[in-house]
Amino acid sequence: MREVSVRAPAKINLHLGVGPVRPDGFHPLATAYQAISLFSTVTARPNAQWEITCETRPGIDGGGVPLGASNLALRAARLLADHAGVDRPVSLHIDKGIPVAGGLAGGSADAAAALRACAALWELGLPDAELLTLAGRLGSDVPFALVGGSAAGLGRGELVEPLADNGRYDWVVLTFDEGLSTPAAYREFDALHAEAVVPEPEIPSALLDALAAGSATALARVVGNDLQAASLRLRPALAEPLAAGVERGALAALLSGSGPTCLFLCSDSDHAESVAAGLTTYGRVLHAHGPVTGATIL
Ligand code: C5P
Repeated sequence: MREVSVRAPAKINLHLGVGPVRPDGFHPLATAYQAISLFSTVTARPNAQWEITCETRPGIDGGGVPLGASNLALRAARLLADHAGVDRPVSLHIDKGIPVAGGLAGGSADAAAALRACAALWELGLPDAELLTLAGRLGSDVPFALVGGSAAGLGRGELVEPLADNGRYDWVVLTFDEGLSTPAAYREFDALHAEAVVPEPEIPSALLDALAAGSATALARVVGNDLQAASLRLRPALAEPLAAGVERGALAALLSGSGPTCLFLCSDSDHAESVAAGLTTYGRVLHAHGPVTGATIL
C-alpha cells in the first residue's frame, strides 16, 4: 500500500459535567460528545524516517501546531508502531480544517486519524478495542474522534459509549485566532470550586431523551458546560458573542469544551445563516452539522 488518508471530525460537548479533581490531576467527566462536520485529514506514507508536515485550510491558523516529536499525530503513529512491534517509519501529512486550541479537539482528531491510517497502512488488523485503548493513552478525547457520532464520555473522557441519536443538528461555530489552554481552564475550575463540594458529574437523562427523539428544541433546553464559568473568567469578552447569538434567536449558546469556540444551536441551515450574520464582528463564523462519523479511511 502506498498511502492511506483518514478524515477525522471535530468534537463538541453537548453537556460537559466535571467532577472534583482526581489524585492524578485529571477531572472525572460525564460528557455527551457530538462529532461535527469540521474535519482534518491525515495521510500516512512509508518513509525513510518519521516525519510530519501540516497545511491548514483557509482561515485556520496552524501556528500552534508542533512539527516535531511532540506532535500528537506523530506520537500516535509511533505509539502504534511500538505496540505492534513494527519498524516502518511513515511521513504524516495533516490537512487541518479544525481550529487549533479551540476546544474542538483538533489535535485529538489528528491523532485518531493517524492511528487509523497507520493501522491500515501496516495491515495490522487490530480490533477496534485495542485502537481505542491506545487512543486513550494519547489524550482524553482521542477515543471519541475514532468513534464519532454522539457518544457518552466517562472516566476522564476516554471511555466512550455511543448514544442513540436520531437527529441532525445545525451549529454555528464561532472561532477566534487566540486559543485557550485546556489545563488553565481546569485550574480555574478548581480555583472557582475550592470552597465547594463538587458532586460527581452525570449526563442529564433529558439530554439522552432529546437525542433519541432527534429534537433540537429539546436538546437546547439541556445543553450545558461546567467549564464555561471558568473559561469566561479567563476570557470575559466571550460573554458578549454568547449573548448576541441568543439575541439573534439561537436555540442555545455555549462554549465548546474549554473554549474559546462558541457554539450556537439552530433549527436548520437557514436559521443558522441568520444567527451567523449577527456574529461576524466577533470572530470567524463556520457552519457545521452533527452528528457525523468518526475517523474514516478515504
Ligand atoms: O487528556 P488531555 O491531554 O486532552 O488533557 C489535557 C489537560 O486537560 C490535562 O493535562 C489536564 O490538565 C486537563 N484535563 C483534566 N481532566 C480531564 C481532561 C483533561 O483535568 N478529564
